[in-house]
Amino acid sequence: MCGISGIVSSRNVSKKLLGSIQNLEYRGYDSCGMAVLNEQNAQVKKNVGYVADVAEKELFTTLDGNVGIAHTRWATHGGVTQANAHPHVSCSGRLAIVHNGIISNYRELKAVLRKKKHRFASETDSEVIAHLIEERLKGKKNSSIENAFMAALMELDGSYAVAMITIDKPGIIYCGKYESPLIIGLGKDENYVGSDFNAFIEYTKDTIIMDDGECAIISSDGYEVKKVNGARSVPKKITTLEWDAEMAKKGGFPHYMLKEIHEQPDSIKKVMAVNEKDYAELAENLISAENAYLTGVGTTFYVSQLGQYCLASEAGIMAPAVSSDEFLEIAPAKKGDFVLAVSQSGETYDTLRALRAAKKAGPKTAAIVNVVGSSMSRLTDKVVLQGSGPEICVISTKAAVSQMIALMRLAIETGALTGHLNVASKKRRINELKKLPKLISDFLNERSAFVRSLAQKHAHHFDWLFIGRGKYYPIALEAALKVKEVAYLHAEGMPAGFLKHGTIALIDDRVRTLVFIPSEKEKELFKLTMGSVEEIMARGGKVVAFHSSRSLTKSKFFKDELVLPDAPDYVAPILSLVAAQLFSYFIAIELNRNIDKPRALAKSVTVA
Ligand code: M6R
Repeated sequence: MCGISGIVSSRNVSKKLLGSIQNLEYRGYDSCGMAVLNEQNAQVKKNVGYVADVAEKELFTTLDGNVGIAHTRWATHGGVTQANAHPHVSCSGRLAIVHNGIISNYRELKAVLRKKKHRFASETDSEVIAHLIEERLKGKKNSSIENAFMAALMELDGSYAVAMITIDKPGIIYCGKYESPLIIGLGKDENYVGSDFNAFIEYTKDTIIMDDGECAIISSDGYEVKKVNGARSVPKKITTLEWDAEMAKKGGFPHYMLKEIHEQPDSIKKVMAVNEKDYAELAENLISAENAYLTGVGTTFYVSQLGQYCLASEAGIMAPAVSSDEFLEIAPAKKGDFVLAVSQSGETYDTLRALRAAKKAGPKTAAIVNVVGSSMSRLTDKVVLQGSGPEICVISTKAAVSQMIALMRLAIETGALTGHLNVASKKRRINELKKLPKLISDFLNERSAFVRSLAQKHAHHFDWLFIGRGKYYPIALEAALKVKEVAYLHAEGMPAGFLKHGTIALIDDRVRTLVFIPSEKEKELFKLTMGSVEEIMARGGKVVAFHSSRSLTKSKFFKDELVLPDAPDYVAPILSLVAAQLFSYFIAIELNRNIDKPRALAKSVTVA
């Protein structure tokens, strides 16, 4: 949520800073800005809009200097205005800051600073940081910039990743973090700071991952990390990234979303290659726990829900999926329990809140995450890295599917340990998962044009119900979320059986229902799902079906249908989801939406 970049170099930094916040734009994109030091002051340019437009209008690249910070914003405190865009400067204009997170005591700090004659230019919580540092510079005890910076950070409540430049120390970037991600990049004659790897991945793969309560003093030829309270130096290890800049480019696809949908055969192979021992360790925790919970939010909650179904079917274990934003209120996890979190970024506030509370209460914790070195990967007792590579589109596709595969794989391992699956059934299930990459790539190659025509036909219906039973229920939820996020259509996901208990009153010829139908081999589920379809059609509802039943096709039963290739029952829901991802993508194209940067969203939601 919000992108931070800083570069301190022996060369001019403005062009690189611009490229850097363009690469971070998926973290937030309502406004952006840049500050570069010259000999007199921190020159600041900022405005409302996408980075490319603001950069052109405000002439970002005319800023001249070797040290600078930049920011791309997702508004939390204060509207989307030029004044509220970052960087923010102190009264003297001698220092500028950029900030991610939320300063929860900003009102109190602002009131005190106002009494001391500080003038505020914005409505943000962030601006108090600049004035507070300036104020602390006046105090005798804290007269060095470094001390004033640390003293100010210690007065902040809430979460922050902050980077600061000042004319009084022109060759340095100061930065610090608490509960918001911040990492350092080590280059040649220049160093970087960023809210994630994409800030500097074009220039270096060597990074230092900062921990909560740390700050860093970065120059073009060195860095030092210290504890904010006490200024003690902290030795840090260099992590070399496996991702490279090329992986984060569109590679000939018109949008990241489509590229990432097409990368799924590959990313599934990657998650299938995770060591069996890792799954076994999680499985042992699941089995030995008094209560085991799965948690995530948004897409990763739906991923967890699919995991819950798989653990029930493959291992006979009930491990409820709990939305992490409600976790504390509903899941009293304690010593002896196990909490498994799922997150692409590893930085999502709600999921971190659940994990942090769990850490205090004593259960074992683990996480399935995509981003190496992320907060969750460091907070939990055990981490499984899904290895999906960078996911740039705000809408999660390949990361979510890989997490589903990880949980399906975990369910198999757990089933083998509980004795629910014998050796042959375990092997069969794993082979079914291994078939998915080819099934998906064939589907994408052969059926994309058809999915596009289906989307074109139905894109102009605003109201949708997405329904499914069993494992197709979380698939329906996730598919509906895709349509909401990328196409801004109203799509409600629900269990097919739930419909008749109220929502069916909505059915008329304007409401479209997308139904995920299991194969006829899943007799009971098939019959029940078809029962719901009949009830909808009896009330004049129009049904679009995703199914693999040849007999249904022959009978021309539905308003419209997508016939999916035959797939083993365990993995068929994933194929339906891939089809739904593509369907939502093409609807959004038809409606001319901003695919990779949908309105109001941000890739990683690091605030409450
Ligand atoms: O990074 P995380 O997986 O923890 O993010 C969780 C949700 O914010 C995320 O899945 C969100 O729902 C996406 N926009 C889904 O496309």
